[in-house]
Amino acid sequence: MLVVYMSLTGQTRKFVQKLPYETLEITLANAFDLEVHQPYIIVAPTYDVEATDILNDFIETGNNQAYLKGVCGSGNLNFNDLYCFTAKDLARDYHVPLLHCFEFQGNEKDVEIVKEKVNEIG
Ligand SMILES: Cc1cc2nc3c(=O)[nH]c(=O)nc-3n(C[C@H](O)[C@H](O)[C@H](O)COP(=O)(O)O)c2cc1C
Repeated sequence: MLVVYMSLTGQTRKFVQKLPYETLEITLANAFDLEVHQPYIIVAPTYDVEATDILNDFIETGNNQAYLKGVCGSGNLNFNDLYCFTAKDLARDYHVPLLHCFEFQGNEKDVEIVKEKVNEIG
């Protein structure tokens, strides 16, 4: 499974590096012209919509939406109702499962949960 992510302060990057999968970082420089041709999940940090819009841009590039299998979120529980809203919104808007939400760079349990969820997707 390919893991597509963005990261502004490095927490999400640290999390995905703990997963045994190929990763692809989305940045302002590549969001509009990267096309994937294999199943992937997105791991999204949580920020204002303006900051995470590049994930929508990536999903809507070429045929990328067809390969999106699920979404995970990195956030901070102090934001209460807004915890991991970016990942929740992506899952809702693109009709894919919300696989897992974790705080910051996650812990070992979060890694295990995401691996299990990816195995379930196949
Ligand atoms: C300006 C700002 C706004 C944030 N807003 C939210 C939020 O609404 N909900 C949430 O769960 N986390 C929020 N966070 C926490 C980040 O999503 C969290 O620290 C995440 O691990 C950052 O990932 P990154 O280091 O890969 O960018 C916010 C952090 C900052 C700095």
